[in-house]
Amino acid sequence: MSELSSRIAGIGAHLPARILSNDELSAMVDTSDCWVRERTGIRQRHIAAEDETTADLAEIAARRALDDAGLSADDIDVIVMATTTPDFTFPATATQIQARLGMTRGFAFDVQAVCTGFIYALSVADNFLARGQARHALVIGAETMSRIVDWTDRTTCVLFGDGAGAVVLSAEEKADPPNGILATYLRSDGRYKDLLHVDGGPSSTQSTGHLRMTGNQVFRHAVTNIAESMTTLCERAGYQISEIDWFVPHQANQRILEGVARKLSIPSQNVISTVADHGNTSAASVPLALHRAVEDGRIKRGDLVLMEALGGGFTWGAALVRF
Ligand code: ACO
Repeated sequence: MSELSSRIAGIGAHLPARILSNDELSAMVDTSDCWVRERTGIRQRHIAAEDETTADLAEIAARRALDDAGLSADDIDVIVMATTTPDFTFPATATQIQARLGMTRGFAFDVQAVCTGFIYALSVADNFLARGQARHALVIGAETMSRIVDWTDRTTCVLFGDGAGAVVLSAEEKADPPNGILATYLRSDGRYKDLLHVDGGPSSTQSTGHLRMTGNQVFRHAVTNIAESMTTLCERAGYQISEIDWFVPHQANQRILEGVARKLSIPSQNVISTVADHGNTSAASVPLALHRAVEDGRIKRGDLVLMEALGGGFTWGAALVRF
């Protein structure tokens, strides 16, 4: 049997209409536009309306990705959705997207790896396609982080935003040299839970809880672990960092993006940054950044793209793609 690889056949994104500026935030907590911009690079974030859920954002991004791929929901065999802010404790939000798209075949499930969620979901879907268990997959990263942020805690509430991004993966015979997803690398280390977690859950507190983070310690781990995942992935896949056309990082903090780029001698013009406009949208941030760079023409077919993320757990990882 011939070997299969997963090509990104389509991409879509969606952001809620409401924009929350740093100035508006400084009327809510003791912060300032200057502090937030200098420490994080964030200027604004999008916030879901009261009646707008993660599934609402995800559905729009998913439909746009399907349109871009020229496929319909009937073509999709599996939906893998990364989210930390599901509409309900169960069922999986992915199954709600399946129903909304009118997809009555195949299967759908959620993946929970916080900000690394999209990289995990991409890797999981790639494995289904590579093994011939699915021909087309919808991979979604969608969040309403505004629902788990403590809006009285200035150390976290200024950082996060809401949004959704999605890609369609299609299986094709492996080309020489290969196209599509070339390699993925996933890691986690549960010892670091206390540095970044939500202080509630169905089994512990019977409530949703709020996001808690020791930001400066997460920052240090982020730069080290992200750089490690990028170099390890490239080594394993047989590429040099200098061969990468575009880096699409998780958008947590502009200083993390710059720290990693400096450590690996990556020119800043090769790093896609949307953190100023979106803040940290957790699992949605990588596909939102990828979407922007594809839409504005920077990332073109055939370009070598390296995506990476780190999130609560800790989880971290990277994906190398010939777009
Ligand atoms: N406005 C004004 N002052 C603030 C604010 C604010 N919004 N937030 C914190 N401060 C104050 C602190 O209270 C502290 O004051 P003190 O010195 O009087 O105690 C001072 O600023 C410095 O605080 P630090 O936490 O040391 O500031 P730092 O430069 O580290 O920036 C930040 C904080 C932006 C959170 C940074 O550490 C960061 O980005 N960390 C990583 C976040 C991240 O990567 N998350 C990834 C994954 S998220 C996920 O998985 C869900």
